[in-house]
Amino acid sequence: MNEWVYLNHASTSNQKPEATQKAIMEYLCGDRQWSAGRNLAQMDQNHLIWDTRVTLADFFGAKNPKQVIFTSGVTLSLNMILWGLLGQGDHVITTSLEHNAVARPLDRLKEERGIEVSYLACGADGALDPEELRPLIRANTKVLVMTHASNVTGAILPYWECFAIAKEYGIITVLDTAQTAGYCQVHLEDSPIDVLAFTGHKGLWALAGVGGFVVRPEIAGQMKTLICGGTGSSSHSTRQPERLPDKFESGTPNGIGILSLRESVKVIEQLGLDNIRAREEILTQRFLHGLEELPVTHHGTKVLSKTVPTVSITCGDRDCALLSQQLFERYGIVTRSGLHCAPLAHQSIGTYPQGTLRFSFGYHTTVDEIEYSLSALRSLLG
Ligand SMILES: Cc1ncc(COP(=O)(O)O)c(C=O)c1O
Repeated sequence: MNEWVYLNHASTSNQKPEATQKAIMEYLCGDRQWSAGRNLAQMDQNHLIWDTRVTLADFFGAKNPKQVIFTSGVTLSLNMILWGLLGQGDHVITTSLEHNAVARPLDRLKEERGIEVSYLACGADGALDPEELRPLIRANTKVLVMTHASNVTGAILPYWECFAIAKEYGIITVLDTAQTAGYCQVHLEDSPIDVLAFTGHKGLWALAGVGGFVVRPEIAGQMKTLICGGTGSSSHSTRQPERLPDKFESGTPNGIGILSLRESVKVIEQLGLDNIRAREEILTQRFLHGLEELPVTHHGTKVLSKTVPTVSITCGDRDCALLSQQLFERYGIVTRSGLHCAPLAHQSIGTYPQGTLRFSFGYHTTVDEIEYSLSALRSLLG
């Protein structure tokens, strides 16, 4: 067993694939990272970025690689999308399970642009009824934004059904795949998704600080640019280019992050999402089964097809932060406690403000580590 038992994959992946590590070292030791000037010396960098765009377009089912926009992650992507689309008097629908990456930009947009927000209610197990969307829709509803899976309960939300209803009313649909990219297959082209935001450092096993969004061209045309600046194109003009991806990619790109994304996504494609998921489902099932004998409440679903490998529990009046600390100090087990940047989710599942103790597994988590964690919990709670 490793020195630490890392069960915090919903926050970030702790192990990057060997191929990614090797590529990063080669990049750092070589002369490919020049990026200060956009000239011939950048040919390699440009090639790398284009190649990654092609890899990601294939992975997320976009027709044209130019639809893939690189940013620092889901947070920046969602800010760019929401600020780019929403104006005075617009109405937005979201869910009661959202991360602050959605909730906070919407809160600020309410204050600064007078937008209105409605929340689709989710049950304690994270389930929601897509039909409950219809009564929330108004004449001025512009966007439906929702997370694909809750980072608190792990529940996978029925985005497809919700987005299909939204499309009947011409509403723009935005999906946050922070918790599902690298676990669930998401394809833009054959789906009712207009824009999906992704982050590199979680299930895509890349470095932190890289991610992006994939957008339908007609929606990109409606989005205002949040961040303007140099793109290495149309340099004679002070006007931000309208063409993709330049419209949304100003400033020097995160070459090493983009490289890590390319290498890690290739590894994921070789392993196959189905295999990754099958393995992580076994771990989740084993853990959920073990929890049944313990004095804990599980806030999520036991249906493996409806959850990512994230399990949130509370233990009566026991302080989750203290339990997390004890798991770490006495047993070397890394978990996360508290509100997980998702206060709305805790309000809707009844765990606000104390939060939950969250265990989240990854492809490299072992059954031994699951058993060890269950026995550590047994000793702490016994
Ligand atoms: C559901 C969800 N959305 C958004 C984010 C933000 O991701 P990032 O910090 O990579 O931008 C997270 C991170 O925990 C998340 O779980």
